[in-house]
Amino acid sequence: MIEIKNLTKAFDTKKITDNLNLTIKENDFMVVIGRSGVGKSVLLKQVIGLIKPDSGKIMIDKQNIGKLDKKELEQVYKKCGYVFQFAALLDSLNVFENIGITLLENGVSSENVRPLVMEKIRSVGLSKDVLKKYPAELSGGMKKRVGLARTLMLSPKIIMYDEPTTGLDPITVKLIHELIQKTHTNLNATTLVISHDVEVFKYAKTVSMLHDGKIIYTGPAKTIWECDNPYIYQFIRGLGEGPIKAII
Ligand SMILES: Nc1ncnc2c1ncn2[C@@H]1O[C@H](COP(=O)(O)OP(=O)(O)OP(=O)(O)O)[C@@H](O)[C@H]1O
Ligand SMILES: [Mg+2]
Repeated sequence: MIEIKNLTKAFDTKKITDNLNLTIKENDFMVVIGRSGVGKSVLLKQVIGLIKPDSGKIMIDKQNIGKLDKKELEQVYKKCGYVFQFAALLDSLNVFENIGITLLENGVSSENVRPLVMEKIRSVGLSKDVLKKYPAELSGGMKKRVGLARTLMLSPKIIMYDEPTTGLDPITVKLIHELIQKTHTNLNATTLVISHDVEVFKYAKTVSMLHDGKIIYTGPAKTIWECDNPYIYQFIRGLGEGPIKAII
């Protein structure tokens, strides 16, 4: 479970998260939506410790991550997997090395890492032929799968995805969403997806919307198309008129 309390982070004078509150319950599959540039990635990066908040509190499994020392923090983050917005593969390493990186860096031999990598590569629907390829030789959808396979190596209890389907064709979008759902069910993991893709509502349990530094709505994904919150209504239909002003 993740509890975010009064989280504030400003760049220059602009507050990107502004006293933001959000709770992601255990085993939830939550999607956080919001316009491009609203601060979704900044929110997620604060949760995973890549950006330090100015104030506020983030609790992961009842541990206040702002109050932990390096070792304790490592223990908490061991439970968390993060799939980056642009896959963030290392260009100089091949797919096998990218997926196995944590174990390989910790001195586990290639022979011992290989069966685990094979299992993960299969679970994300790729064939073993990709293992020798370098990131530059992969399509966008393949990179996202490899990024997910790398995260799955650590069997996380909490798994977070930043824009897992941006830039993919509709069929690959569906396959990636199915993969996220399968991973959610198989690992029994708490899942947090940052997205502006309305297709993800078919798979998620809860939807939250980030607007103007705050979570302005949280509700069930199943009935989101009937939701009469004006921000949600406008966002999911992409209407020009409504409470959210166009940024041009
Ligand atoms: N390290 C940083 N330093 C300064 N400003 C930043 C930094 N990271 C993000 N920002 C600013 O914070 C705002 C929110 O950025 P963020 O990447 O979180 O948006 P987003 O909602 O994820 O957008 P998208 O949907 O396009 O991914 C933007 O105005 C961005 O320029
Ligand atoms: Mg982003």
